[in-house]
Parts: sequence; C-alpha cells; structure tokens
Amino acid sequence: MEPVIHQHAIGLIARLLRDRTGQVINEDRRWRVDRAIETVLRERGVTRSNDILTLLTQPDAAAVKQELVEALLNNETYFFRDRQVFNQLAGTVLPALCRARSESRTLRIWSAGCSTGQEPLSLAIMLIEQGLTPGNGWAVDLVATDVSHTAIEAARIGRYSRFEIQRGLGVTQMLRHFEEGPDGWQASRQVLGMVRYQVANLLDCPPPGGAFDLILCRNLLIYFDDEAKRLACAQLRQALAAHGRLLLGGGEGTLEPASGLIAAASDCALYRLGERALAA
Ligand SMILES: C[S@@+](CC[C@H](N)C(=O)[O-])C[C@H]1O[C@@H](n2cnc3c(N)ncnc32)[C@H](O)[C@@H]1O
Repeated sequence: MEPVIHQHAIGLIARLLRDRTGQVINEDRRWRVDRAIETVLRERGVTRSNDILTLLTQPDAAAVKQELVEALLNNETYFFRDRQVFNQLAGTVLPALCRARSESRTLRIWSAGCSTGQEPLSLAIMLIEQGLTPGNGWAVDLVATDVSHTAIEAARIGRYSRFEIQRGLGVTQMLRHFEEGPDGWQASRQVLGMVRYQVANLLDCPPPGGAFDLILCRNLLIYFDDEAKRLACAQLRQALAAHGRLLLGGGEGTLEPASGLIAAASDCALYRLGERALAA
C-alpha cells in the first residue's frame, strides 16, 4: 500500500495542475504525477518521494510548483499533424477565409496550445505555400500561445532535432524552410518571423488584437474536465470572428450545442459560431 503522505502529495499536485491549466489527471494518467515528482526530486538530488511535501512548503516552493506543472504537461506534437486536415485548411478553409477578408487582405490566426512550435510553423509554411505573404499584399497575424514556459522558450528558438524535423515534414519543405546546423535544424527567419509566441493560459482571456479568422486548439481540450472545457469554449467563442473557423483535434469528440459552436464540416473537427452566438 502507498504511504498516506505520498497520496496527499499526489492530490496536492493534481490540484495545482487543475488550478493552473484546467487539466485533470485521471487514474490512468496518474503515473505522470509519479514521474513528475521523480524528475523534480532528481534535479535537486533528493531521493525519497515523500520529500516532495517538504519541497512544496519551502521558500522556493514557487519554482518547485512551476517545475511540477511543466513536467506534467503533455507536449506531444509534430509538423503537419493530421496531414489531411492541413490539406483541407489549404484547399477549402483558407480560400473561404481569404474571400471573407478580400477587402482588408488581413488574416488573424491563433494556435492555442502550440507546444514547441511545430503546429504554428506548419501554418506559416502553409501560408507561404498559399502565397499569403506581405509580398503578395497579405498581412497575416499568426499568434501561438501555450501555458508552458519551457515549450514557448523552445518554440521561440525554432530549432529541432533530426527526429523532430522528420516527423511530418516533407523533404522539400524541410530543405526549403530549415537549415541544418551543429545543434539541429533551424527554422528560417521567414518562417519563424511569421509567428508571435506568447505564454498564455487558454482559460484566461484570448490574445488581444481583435477576432481571429482561424483558431487551432488541437489535442488539449481532451485533458480538461467539463467545467474547464466549458470555460475554454467560451474563450474560443469570444475570440472567433463571425465568419471564422475553429479546428479541434480529431480524437477530441464533438462539442455540445450548448458550447455555441456548431460543426462546419462532416469529415474533420471544424466548428463555426452557432446562430445564437452570432446574435449575442
Ligand atoms: C498535446 S500538446 C498539442 C500541441 C499541438 N496543438 C498539436 O496538436 O500538435 C498540448 C499542449 O497544450 C498545452 N496546454 C495545456 N493546457 C493549456 C492551457 N490551459 N492553456 C494553454 N496551453 C495549454 C500544453 O502545454 C501542450 O503544449
């Protein structure tokens, strides 16, 4: 049987994660808490798992808490994740959004929960391939946010290992937009310069600057409980332009009609504002 004190630590840490990110740790993901505790203790040269409670009450507890939250977040991502969805964005969604913005020739796109940058860089590459660049008279504001400081730090650098660069990118795209160096594959200035990275919690207010034509919020709602999911939907709804489109991850289930967001495609998790949300 596990010591009671360890159970208490797990409860504290799960609550910390819920409060800071909206994510819940179910029984089948509890191993992640154990692993996060081990990582934080190892970095401090401590070996007994119960000592996490001591660390959580010491003067530098703020740093320990942040490290635990970072260690608990799942940052799994890769370039052009769900390639057919990107094909659909390029083939039908973006052209429709461009028609809606044909007068201003401006687009606002938000990658919420962007992890280490592969998703917004895939969008940036797609925009270049579609000719949606300042050279062609288009001003695109591509904002990418994540609650993880370490993920955003890595995203801002824009350098990827051989393993990471080979996940999802075609060879031509890789050679055109990245350069191999001693420390990995560096994103070109053009691609990296198209993305504005910010540390931000999806459950707080959306990035400032006006409504978004396209929002990607993929593979993160899946870890929220119902209350956090409701709050996240309210933020996404508030951030979406009247003609805008919201893309969720393929395996995240369908949104309730009460979310104010309704399906906009039958073959992928694309949503738009429902009539009631539009009238509000
Ligand atoms: C599994 S990754 C998905 C990355 C990318 N969207 C994709 O589909 O490849 C989920 C990301 O969401 C971030 N995240 C989790 N909770 C968040 C929150 N409340 N606000 C913003 N980002 C969050 C995590 O830090 C992580 O980087």
